[in-house]
Amino acid sequence: ALERTFSIIKPDAVAKNVIGGIYNRFESAGLRLVASKMLHLSKEQAEGFYAEHSERPFFAALVSFMTSGPVMVQVLEGENAVLKNREIMGATNPADALAGTLRADYAASIDENACHGSDAPESAAREIAYFFSDEEICPRTR
Ligand code: CMP
Repeated sequence: ALERTFSIIKPDAVAKNVIGGIYNRFESAGLRLVASKMLHLSKEQAEGFYAEHSERPFFAALVSFMTSGPVMVQVLEGENAVLKNREIMGATNPADALAGTLRADYAASIDENACHGSDAPESAAREIAYFFSDEEICPRTR
């Protein structure tokens, strides 16, 4: 099905200056960018985005990392975009990520793991709406 998913290039990958390399992976896999911007998240924005993890032991470190520098947030569109993006990213822990995935190539640890992607169409819709208004999303007809 034609889907949209939400993606973050995290502060570690922005600092490595590999935004373009990561966008190339998305495009080479047939995903189209339909919205994109750079943001330096506030503590409140990061806590709200990751609210489902608020009771986890890594929550404070996660918020601290995600606010440590700018991120790129984007909406990707394409056939099976949610799963396709997760395959491009590889496992959450780079130690488990398959060769050729973003986490295998760019991530240092489970805490600083280069990118985020929605895990299901329902979370994609919620995450997209958290960062983008409808007017900021540009459907691609060609
Ligand atoms: P992300 O997809 O952004 O969602 C939550 C993040 O928490 C996750 O990627 C990891 O970077 C980070 N994290 C740190 N420790 C863990 C853990 N034990 N399990 C899941 N996520 C973790």
